Amino acid sequence: MTDVEIIKEAIKIKKKAHAPYSHFKVGAALLGKSGKLYTGCNIECSSYGISLCAERVALVKAVSSGEKEFIKIAIVGGKEDELILCPPCGACRQFLNDFGNIKVLLGYQEENKIKCKKYKLSELLPESFGL
Ligand code: THU
Repeated sequence: MTDVEIIKEAIKIKKKAHAPYSHFKVGAALLGKSGKLYTGCNIECSSYGISLCAERVALVKAVSSGEKEFIKIAIVGGKEDELILCPPCGACRQFLNDFGNIKVLLGYQEENKIKCKKYKLSELLPESFGL
C-alpha cells in the first residue's frame, strides 16, 4: 500500500473515534509485513486515565491477530473533520518501538490539501529503552 492509501484509511477510522471528553479524534493505520492493514481510533473512558490511543488500538488488533512485524503507521488527528499534525504520544512511541523501528507518517491538512511528514520511529524516540 502507498503512503497516501494508508493515510486515507487512517482518516476513515478517525471518524469512528469515541472522544466525548476531549472531542479530539485520532485515527491510525498500521501496515504489517504480511500486507494486512490494522486500523485503530482513540477510545476515551469516563475514567480519563484509562482511555486508549488510536495507535495502541491498531497495534493490539495487529498483535492479537498474530502479526508482529510492521512496515509503517499513518496517524491523523483533529477535532471533527479537521486534520492537524498529530505526533504520537510518548507512551505510543514506546509501545510501537517494542515492535521495531517502523516508518511513521503524520498526515495533516494545509489549504485543504492532505500533506504528510515522514519519520523513522527512532527519530521520534531516540535512545529508546528496550529489553
Ligand atoms: N491520542 C491518541 O489517540 N494518540 C496519541 O498519540 C495522542 C493522543 C488521543 C487520546 C485522547 O483520546 C485524545 O487523543 C486527546 O488526548
